[in-house]
Amino acid sequence: MIKNIKGTKDLLPNATYNLQDIENHLTRFMHLHGYGEIRTPIFESTELFTRSVGENTDIVNKEMYTWEDQNGQSLTLRPEMTASVARAYIQKQMWKIEPISKYYYIGPLFRRERPQKGRLRQFHQFGVESIGSENPEQDAEVISIAYNIYKMFGIEDISIKINSLGSGNIREIYSNDLKESLSNFKDSFSDSELKRLEQNPLRILDSKNEKIIKIINENAPNIFDYISPTDKKHFESVLNILDTMGIPYVHDNYLVRGLDYYNQTVFEVISNKLGGQDALCGGGRYDKLISQLGGEDIPAVGFAAGMERLIIAMNLENNESTSTDIYIINNEISLNGVSMLLADNIRKNLGVAVYVDTLRRSLKSQLRHSNKMKSKFSIILDAKTLDENTVCIKNMEKNSQDIIDFNNVVSYFESE
Ligand code: HAM
Repeated sequence: MIKNIKGTKDLLPNATYNLQDIENHLTRFMHLHGYGEIRTPIFESTELFTRSVGENTDIVNKEMYTWEDQNGQSLTLRPEMTASVARAYIQKQMWKIEPISKYYYIGPLFRRERPQKGRLRQFHQFGVESIGSENPEQDAEVISIAYNIYKMFGIEDISIKINSLGSGNIREIYSNDLKESLSNFKDSFSDSELKRLEQNPLRILDSKNEKIIKIINENAPNIFDYISPTDKKHFESVLNILDTMGIPYVHDNYLVRGLDYYNQTVFEVISNKLGGQDALCGGGRYDKLISQLGGEDIPAVGFAAGMERLIIAMNLENNESTSTDIYIINNEISLNGVSMLLADNIRKNLGVAVYVDTLRRSLKSQLRHSNKMKSKFSIILDAKTLDENTVCIKNMEKNSQDIIDFNNVVSYFESE
């Protein structure tokens, strides 16, 4: 039997229904904030990700699905969206058209990670990118959007971690000092941690190893001591706006994020429902990415949220939602046309869901199915009553029934 690839998922109608519902809410929410949807291709040239996400990041080093196209070009299934959005923005020279571009996106991403709860190889992100403003109010708007989305979906136990990585070459200077400060403790590091310390020291700060966390807390320098007064002021202004908006956060000095393009503000929204993979979403400023990829010197900030993790946090993983409004029960083959025509008339006139059985089930079994589908009404078609031009309509919730003139079925529901 051919099976799906490890770390990918088939979504059956119940799951898709939940997802569509979430997407509709997100679309509406973003429209209310003045953000428009951007859709970019699922694969891009590999260089786009190596140059933006960074050569020494986990994503580029070991997680990308990359192949050589027939013409020898290296292509990659997108592992994240920010690089693609930046590329599209530069390609269309959007800065000539509008001073600020506010985008949101929903779509699949691909990373060859070890699958576990909330971590897939094909996963989906909802995200926003605002390109054009360097001001702290833009950071605050993006963070508040992330926070309010989780609130909109009724997720209560969340917290925001926030930090500033400063700008200019602060990351580099800090990385070197961090490496030096931890070099005395190399004996406590595993081979992969040592490699990390060598190649991308900032990632050590993400360690989940208790021993390493203790060493970091006791010895690592604080990036906040390195950043300039201007960057500090920017960060404080972001926090001030969040305070005014009543959005709670924790300043986490060791939050650095795993992608190279960030500067100044970085943040994550965390849920304790997720276990090991606790980040519901993450983002930050990337003021140099647009120019690095060949555009003008244009600042930007954004975040992306894992849809699968949102669904776990909403407890929707196993939700059953198949339903209909009206079920037409018919067990006479001669009435198939009548029953389908009636269903179409009701759908067209009332815009409600109508289900018609096509399995030729018995009356009893159709009634059972109607119950299972949580229908509000069942219409029972019967050759005898139809001879008298009437049908029986059963109210499934009240367990009552009415005999109605066949021509008045639509108007009967109009008044219900
Ligand atoms: P990221 O932290 O790599 O950032 O991913 C953002 C979110 O995507 C994570 O917090 C998580 O919810 C979800 N996610 C990531 N990997 C997986 C996976 N393997 N399975 C399930 N969910 C996953 C970015 O991607 C940046 N582009 C965010 C950003 C936008 N920064 C600025 N703008």
